[in-house]
This record gives sequence, C-alpha cells and structure tokens, in this order.
Amino acid sequence: MAVVLFVCLSLFACTTVYAGVQHDVRTVLDGSLFNPYNNEIQIVKNENEQKPVNEQFPSAVLFGRTCGGTIISPTWILTAGHCTLFTNGRDILAGTNNTENGSGLRRKVKRLVIHPRFSVGPYWLDADRFNLKEVGARWDFLLAELESPLPLNGKTMVAAQLDDLTRHSPGEEAGYAGYGADRHGGMMREEMHGMDLEILADEECSNLVEFDKQDMICTRGRPPRYDSACNGDSGSGLIRNGKIVGVASWVENDAHECRNGARVVFSRVASVVDWIKQVTKI
Ligand SMILES: *[C@@H]1O[C@H](CO)[C@@H](O)[C@H](O)[C@H]1NC(C)=O
Ligand SMILES: *[C@@H]1O[C@H](CO)[C@@H](O)[C@H](O)[C@H]1NC(C)=O
Repeated sequence: MAVVLFVCLSLFACTTVYAGVQHDVRTVLDGSLFNPYNNEIQIVKNENEQKPVNEQFPSAVLFGRTCGGTIISPTWILTAGHCTLFTNGRDILAGTNNTENGSGLRRKVKRLVIHPRFSVGPYWLDADRFNLKEVGARWDFLLAELESPLPLNGKTMVAAQLDDLTRHSPGEEAGYAGYGADRHGGMMREEMHGMDLEILADEECSNLVEFDKQDMICTRGRPPRYDSACNGDSGSGLIRNGKIVGVASWVENDAHECRNGARVVFSRVASVVDWIKQVTKI
C-alpha cells in the first residue's frame, strides 16, 4: 500500500492542479561535505543552511503541476514514473522557489521516457478495498527531455550528478526539496520547502510489504523535525553531496496520512544509471 500512498497523494494534488492552480517544485542539495576537521564541517554546513532552500537544492524543479523532479543535464529531468499518472508532464519550472510569482524558467517537455520495468499494482488506486497501507511502484523512474536547454548558472540551476554507489551507510544525511502538500490530500505549496532525511538500512523498511532494496532506498526524517513526504513530493530527488541518490516514490502508510516520522521510500538511482546514460547520452 505504501506505493499507492504516493500515488494517492499525487492524485489529490493533481485534482487541485487541474482545477487551475499552478505550482512548482525545486530540489535542494545536502550541505555535508567530506572534511577531516569536524569544526570545518560544521562551518560549511551552517553556511549552506543559511542559503535559500532553492540554492541548497538548485537541481530541484516542479514537474508538471503535481510532482518534483531533478535537473540531471541542461536538457534532461529525472522524476518518478508514477507522475505520468497524475500530471500531464508537459512542462517544468526551474530556477526558483515560488511557483506563483513569475520567477524561474519554464521549459516544455518534448519527450517522456519511462523505465521499461515500471509497474504499479492493479490495486493501487483502491488501497482501502485491498486493505493496503501503502501502494508502491516498482522501478519508479521517468526521464523528461526538454525542448530547449536550461541555462545552468551554478547557483539556482545546477545539474545533479548521478549517484552510482550501490550501498549507502545507514545514517548518511540527505535531503530533498519540493512543493508538495503540507497535509494528506492537500494542495501543492507555492513556496519550495526542503526536507532533512537520513538513509536507513534496507532492513528498516523490510516490514513494508512493497519494499524491495533492488530498486528502492529506505529513509526517514532526521530530528528534530522528522520530515517526511506528502502528496506532490513524488518525483523529487534525494540529494546527497550534490548527487541524486533517489527519486521520491512512496511513503509509509501513504494511503491514509502524511505524518512526520513516516519512512520515505525513494527509487534507487544507482540501480538505473546505465539506463539513464543510455537514454540521455549524459
Ligand atoms: C528565493 O530565491 C531567490 C533566488 O535564489 C533568493 O534570492 C531568495 O532569497 C529566495 N527566497 C526565499 C524566501 O528563500
Ligand atoms: C518570488 O517568491 C520568492 C520566494 O517567496 C521571493 O524570494 C522572490 O523575491 C519572489 N520574486 C518575485 C519576482 O516576486
């Protein structure tokens, strides 16, 4: 059911979008840097945290009207496969932190390429009937090619590198940014928000029926906020040290609620690096 959760979240948000409300999503970069001196790590991190959220996550975009996405090259955005179910995916908004005030750049999408193994259960729109807590999609990846390149500027628009580490240590800090709702079934938010997460051991998600470490990564919010994800955060990139590690896919008990502390499952980018490179030539 976790898989369905994100879908449902996207679905509700989509409904509001189609009612004529426009919204955007952006990504943020994690501030932690490799440094042998603890105090310097602290300084670097604090500087980064004082930046506006869009400059912390300059690869984050709004995809369609109800999903997040990540710039991975001037002409390619990586988002979630299930976003095609709720958003037309015809354009993206990059380089901003507000989807309603005319800032940022829109680009039309000329081509969508979904991962060949993408699937959602036949039950995913009817979680209650099947008594599911979450609805998970498998191989939940989508590539969107833009009609014209984004003018990446190193500050508010940056391409995230692809993470190719097949294993991460539990406790590694990461984050994402987007415009998802602040409550279950709510509307997209105008202002970008950043979320602080940590990567968990695969076992920490093994009691979620839909979880499979082959194509998924288990995360949870860090104290004190214990951030999670909600409708409209789907597709946002999990970023660590400027690299995209995952794509927001589904959340613990997402068929029924958005709750701080709920585990967030991201599609594992390292498991599809070859596919991404083959399609995009990056
Ligand atoms: C929004 O983004 C602009 C450009 O990066 C930045 O100058 C501004 O401080 C940001 N605003 C907020 C509220 O974060
Ligand atoms: C748009 O909104 C952002 C964030 O609220 C703000 O920082 C920025 O100055 C606004 N830009 C314009 C053109 O109003």
